[in-house]
Amino acid sequence: MKCKYLDHQVCVKTSGEYRLCCISNEPTNRENVTTHTVDDWRNSATYQNAIATFENGLFPKACEKCKIQEEAGETSQRTRPRQYGPGISHLDLRFGSNCNLQCTMCYPGVSSSLAKEHQEMLKQGIDSPWGDEPFPNFDWYTDERGEYLATLPELREVYLTGGEPMMVKGLHKFLQKLDSSVEVRFNTNATIMNPNIYEELKRFETVNMCFSIDGIGKVNDYIRWGSNWQQVETNMLKWAEIVKYKSLGPTIQVLNLHHYETIIDWCKKHDFQFFDNLLMNPEYLNTKNAPDEIKQYCPEKFKYWVDQPADIIQQEAFKKWISIFDKQRGCSLKEYIPEVAKAYGIN
Ligand SMILES: C[S@@+](CC[C@H](N)C(=O)[O-])C[C@H]1O[C@@H](n2cnc3c(N)ncnc32)[C@H](O)[C@@H]1O
Ligand code: SF4
Repeated sequence: MKCKYLDHQVCVKTSGEYRLCCISNEPTNRENVTTHTVDDWRNSATYQNAIATFENGLFPKACEKCKIQEEAGETSQRTRPRQYGPGISHLDLRFGSNCNLQCTMCYPGVSSSLAKEHQEMLKQGIDSPWGDEPFPNFDWYTDERGEYLATLPELREVYLTGGEPMMVKGLHKFLQKLDSSVEVRFNTNATIMNPNIYEELKRFETVNMCFSIDGIGKVNDYIRWGSNWQQVETNMLKWAEIVKYKSLGPTIQVLNLHHYETIIDWCKKHDFQFFDNLLMNPEYLNTKNAPDEIKQYCPEKFKYWVDQPADIIQQEAFKKWISIFDKQRGCSLKEYIPEVAKAYGIN
């Protein structure tokens, strides 16, 4: 057995730590892009043991997600048909945790704005859904590290996410170092339009932008707190003029399940692809825990998941955390997404 991600991709998370892949769940790795080269990582015990385990026909413990999917007869990240190699052909880079948004379902370890809000809540003695500890801000990108990664000799694709990749100060220099044949893929919140990046991207044969949009209009404004739909829509349509592939990638959760078809309609109207991502955590935003009034809007493809019995404790948790966020942010769910407020009995 083999995995193309291990053989041909290098994944670096927001803290700079190397990972087997973006969904592997090995314990914290010692090898970090600030202290170790890609070769150090690939010679490490974690990496070598994973390769050896596959060679023995078994899944490494860290690759449980693919194992479960494959044993259920489904396609996994490992088996998805994509061309990787030869050599290190793919990079998955999270250039730190700087982010201008406070998306409700996101995590302070990947958004500096959420980390700040969490810190503020702790300071004021307010319960936070992320516990009692502050989160560090990760910012490992330097031009030297960027150049090292961008000039790996067999590179064919770079996937940039974060944090918010458009906020990385050295992004322009990083892109300048890439060969124009390298496919550049972004996961971005579409709030930032940097003219230098826009011009630089025109040089590449393939740019693939997946916009993380969780609703159209006010639904997006509420979930992706700090963003403004009009600005986001204007930016997406401008990016669409120069990129080869454009898509919306909503994270489907309690707050937007009822709105699923509206997002698809927007994609059809503007000729964008649609790649949904079903949220698992936090549990209180997981669609399986939604009230029936919301579940009735579930698309056929998610029924297997959403139709599980809801956990009432998670519905109470939803009310608690939404009320805390609304107070902290000076807004109200009822004003932005009245259907969901009503389903939970929030006035
Ligand atoms: C963490 S963001 C980083 C990139 C960029 N800031 C953006 O929003 O696209 C990467 C993706 O994770 C998604 N995401 C955020 N919270 C999530 C959660 N709890 N479960 C699953 N995906 C989540 C986001 O919507 C986004 O599509
Ligand atoms: S824009 Fe991306 S990184 Fe920032 S808070 Fe939202 S999902 Fe998280």
